[in-house]
Amino acid sequence: MCGITGYIGPRPAIEIALDTLKRLEYRGYDSAGVAFWSGDHLEVMKRAGKIQHLTELLNGVEAHGLAVSHTRWATHGIPNDPNAHPHTDENGTVAVVHNGIIENYLELRHELGARGHRFSSETDTEVLAHLIEEQLPLCESPEEAVRRALQGVRGSYAIAVMFTEHPDRVVVARHDSPLVIGLGEGENFIASDIPALLPYTRRVILLENGDLGIITRDSVRLMRLDGSPIERPPVEITWSAEAAEKGGHEHFMIKEILEQPEAVRDTLRGRLKPNGGIAFPELKLELEDWQKFRRILIVACGTAYHAGLIGKFVLERWLRRPVEVYYSSEFRYGDPILQPNTLALFISQSGETADTLAALRLCREAGYTTMGIVNVVGSSIARECDHVLYTQAGPEISVASTKAYSTQIAVLSLLGLYLSSVNGTLPMHTYTEGVKSLMQMPSLIARSLETEPQVRQIAEALYQTPLAFYLGRGVDAYVAMEGALKIKEIAYVPTQEPPAGEMKHGPLALIEPGVIAVFVSTQERTREKLLGNLKEVKARQGTVFLVTTEDDDLLPQEADYTVRIPRLPMEELSPLVSIPVLQLFAYHVARLRGCEIDQPRNLAKSVTVE
Ligand code: G6P
Repeated sequence: MCGITGYIGPRPAIEIALDTLKRLEYRGYDSAGVAFWSGDHLEVMKRAGKIQHLTELLNGVEAHGLAVSHTRWATHGIPNDPNAHPHTDENGTVAVVHNGIIENYLELRHELGARGHRFSSETDTEVLAHLIEEQLPLCESPEEAVRRALQGVRGSYAIAVMFTEHPDRVVVARHDSPLVIGLGEGENFIASDIPALLPYTRRVILLENGDLGIITRDSVRLMRLDGSPIERPPVEITWSAEAAEKGGHEHFMIKEILEQPEAVRDTLRGRLKPNGGIAFPELKLELEDWQKFRRILIVACGTAYHAGLIGKFVLERWLRRPVEVYYSSEFRYGDPILQPNTLALFISQSGETADTLAALRLCREAGYTTMGIVNVVGSSIARECDHVLYTQAGPEISVASTKAYSTQIAVLSLLGLYLSSVNGTLPMHTYTEGVKSLMQMPSLIARSLETEPQVRQIAEALYQTPLAFYLGRGVDAYVAMEGALKIKEIAYVPTQEPPAGEMKHGPLALIEPGVIAVFVSTQERTREKLLGNLKEVKARQGTVFLVTTEDDDLLPQEADYTVRIPRLPMEELSPLVSIPVLQLFAYHVARLRGCEIDQPRNLAKSVTVE
């Protein structure tokens, strides 16, 4: 996720660029830049770090009537000056800002390189500038050059393009990444998101996938990528600026919960091929390297640790090799047994968690192959690991982690399927089933999220509970642990989350009227056993809230409340469809209890102390 803004009109364009950009800082903040018309040529100024750094750089600089700007959340290439947007071709003929991921950028870069193009950044975006520049002399108009250049591009993008030869216009296009055009009198604006524009205009055109726009001071002309003209009527925005930053939601947490289909789609993008193959183009590991691992170690904290537990479940199932999961803080001081041929995975949203970083350093000293599963590009853990697989969740602002967790599971599932295919440990039809489920995952998660109205009603009935049990078996027990962490973190509800089969060995003593038990049931083979556990709770007058698959006709008979989620052919992947319900439940309970949801008491987003 990144933020794009742009302005064309009589006002000081740089001031507007900076002001609008600041309103999009929640979309990314590792570097920023602006391209503007200096009066006789196209100028680009950009800098790593927060927008404040760019503001200092631009002190005293004036633009004439036209600027596009960008705040970056790195996906390809670390956050430094050369990788900051805008990007240009060698001659500075075009400047491009981009939000999204160009899937086939390596291929395109290679082809462009062979035709003599030289690159000055590691980004996927830069290929767009070169592709457009190549088309310019062949086309009648700059918009035609953009349209043609995009024909060979796969992936997601919202782009804004400026041209040295055409200082009267900005060309924009979108596919799978948002872009809006703000309409003014004798001036027009663009932005990734509505909040950036609210101080200037409330009349906006929302571009749709496959739209291309040509924006001048006085006009907005739209066409489809096939060249056919199209009209999109403007809409009037009535939200407050604060609500708009959260996409019209009350909190970042709910916004991020609802972003999960998109975040998972972006994470799978370029790695899960349409033909069912899996590839990690960013890793420099040969087949023999993948085959040599006899043991896998996973080290993480908090929610990332819970994703690690799901990783253990899928990796052991598919790969039939031992996987150990450690809390980072325990690993460091736990005198771990270090063995050869171990792949050590470090999972972290921020990439800065002190305990995880220290554990990573220990593993490097022991000579392990280290691999990070990290959300923040260029973070310490990402830099210090031998290899890194980035989750593409975009910035996560709410302290309680939601979309980072889903994308971590998506990466671990891809890794599990990949490792088992290179080691031949999974029957072909099981592999194919896994790939198929992953391909459908964004829409399956979206279906789970549709339960929100029902989950909210259940929260209204149960929010005053003094104690919540979260119970499941197998992979569901791990999801239950994450569900419990969510309600503990943001709603301050005390929880117990033993595997359901352990209830009778102690925790059952805590069940009494008023206590709730949230059961997660997605595994056919443990369903009958879970029925026993459910009855144990009911017999002691506990209240049961069941999350189960749509085909289950056994457990709902005993439950007080039931929410149904999609049934997956590959049960190991079910955490991705069950967790949204538990996140939504925690969110609504916290809201009803009047809690500070995005910044819960005593907690921090990134824990850089030991
Ligand atoms: C903190 C956050 C959690 C997060 C954990 C690990 O406790 O509040 O949401 O899961 O740190 O953070 P990391 O950035 O390493 O995933």
